[in-house]
Amino acid sequence: AAPTRYEAESSPAVCTGTIDSNWSGYSGSGFCNGNNATGASAQFTVNAGAAGTATLSVRFANGTTTARPADLIVNGSTVQNVSYEGTGAWDTWVTRTFTVSVRSGSNTIQLSPTTSNGLANIDYIEV
Ligand code: GCU
Repeated sequence: AAPTRYEAESSPAVCTGTIDSNWSGYSGSGFCNGNNATGASAQFTVNAGAAGTATLSVRFANGTTTARPADLIVNGSTVQNVSYEGTGAWDTWVTRTFTVSVRSGSNTIQLSPTTSNGLANIDYIEV
């Protein structure tokens, strides 16, 4: 099935920071600019039709030259730490793809930064 897009600026997503639109190229009406702090996350609630593995895509921009690592947390369990390296500019968006296990129905997916620089800017996820 075609993936469903979940915008970081739209409920039920929760952005610990501000919803900004000052850099071009985003989808929807803006993106999550998480606070520059460890744990200042972007959280999504996604629906899965069945339990199993799912392809998760995350679209982000990092206009610095320092990676913005963040834990990928699915239903409360940390799956991996993702680097979210610099993309060259804040208006250069890159999509990274992961395989995650989901349960049937509602799932939470949280991107939780592990350094005090906080998250890269997050545009959306797709599952
Ligand atoms: C700049 C940029 C923001 C970004 C921030 C950061 O202020 O305009 O979009 O989120 O840097 O370093 O996190």
